[in-house]
Amino acid sequence: MDLMIEGKVAIVTGASTGIGEAVAYELAGNGVRVVITARGEKRLKETAKRIGAETGSEVAAVAADVTEADAAERLVAAAVKRFGGIDIVVNNAGRAQAGGLLETTDADWSRMEEVKIHAMVRLNRAAIPHMRRKHWGRIVNMSSIGGIYPNPKLLISHVLSAAINNLTKSLALEVAKDGILVNAIAIGAIRTDNWASNMIPKVRQTRPDLAALDDEALIELLGAELTPVGRFGIPEEIAAVAAFLVSARNGFVTGCTVEASGGADRFM
Ligand SMILES: NC(=O)c1ccc[n+]([C@@H]2O[C@H](COP(=O)([O-])OP(=O)(O)OC[C@H]3O[C@@H](n4cnc5c(N)ncnc54)[C@H](OP(=O)(O)O)[C@@H]3O)[C@@H](O)[C@H]2O)c1
Repeated sequence: MDLMIEGKVAIVTGASTGIGEAVAYELAGNGVRVVITARGEKRLKETAKRIGAETGSEVAAVAADVTEADAAERLVAAAVKRFGGIDIVVNNAGRAQAGGLLETTDADWSRMEEVKIHAMVRLNRAAIPHMRRKHWGRIVNMSSIGGIYPNPKLLISHVLSAAINNLTKSLALEVAKDGILVNAIAIGAIRTDNWASNMIPKVRQTRPDLAALDDEALIELLGAELTPVGRFGIPEEIAAVAAFLVSARNGFVTGCTVEASGGADRFM
C-alpha cells in the first residue's frame, strides 16, 4: 500500500533504538524526511546514518532529553530549518517504571510524568501550529496496553498511559477541523532493549519460579503466557501500525487508542 507520505517531514522521539527506531525506519522507507531524537548522541547518530543509508531518505539526528523545557522548541526548529516544516509527530520516548504504589516515590512520579506527559504535551503544542498552516498533520502518541488493562506492579506507567489515551482523544477533538489526526497506540509486549535491560530483571524479582530459565526461554514463556498470539511482538509490527495512522491513507481514524498487543488483555 502506498502510504502517500513521500516528502513529508516527521519528528520521532526516542528513536535511537527499539520501537522509535523502527518507526523512523518505516517512515524513511516511505520517503519521509525524519528528525530523530534521543539523549545518547553516539547511538542516535549511528541510527540516523544507518536509516539514511538503507532507505535513501534524509534523517537528521538531534540529541535531546525530551524532559528539558526547551527540547520541543529545539526539535521543531531543527525540523523547520532542515526540512521546511512539520507534518508528522510520533511521541515515543521513555520506558516503563516498575513498582506498586508503596514502592514509588514522588520523584519517580515527577520523572515519569515529565517523560510521558509533559514532553508529549510540549512537542504536540510546538508542532501543531506548523500543521495547522498546511491544514494537514498526523500525531501518534505511544501508550501501553496497561492504560486500558492496568497491572498494579507497573502503576505509574499504566496510570500515565491512561492519561495519554485521554489526552489523545481530547487533542483529536481540538484539532480535527484543522486536518490533523491524533491517535495513540496501546503497545503490548514488544521485544526491545527495554525488556533486556529493564523489564526482565524486574520479572525475575517477582517470578522466582522462572529462575532456571535463561532470558530467551523466559521471553518465550512470557510471550506464550501474555498474548493470545503466543509470542512477543517486534518493533516493526508497531511501526507498521504507526505508519498507517500517520499516513495520508488514514483520513478518518482519529482520537483512537489502537491496541497492538497480540490480543493481550493484560500487561505481565
Ligand atoms: N517494549 C514494550 O514492550 C513496550 C510496551 C508498552 C509501551 N512501550 C512504550 O513504547 C516506547 C518505546 O519503548 P521501547 O521498548 O522501544 O524502549 P527502549 O528500547 O528503551 O528505547 C527507548 C528510546 O527512547 C529514548 N529515550 C528514553 N528517555 C528519553 C528522554 N528522556 N528523552 C529522549 N529520548 C529518550 C532512548 O534513548 P536514550 O536512552 O539515549 O535517550 C531510546 O531511543 C516507550 O515509551 C515505552 O514506554 C513499550
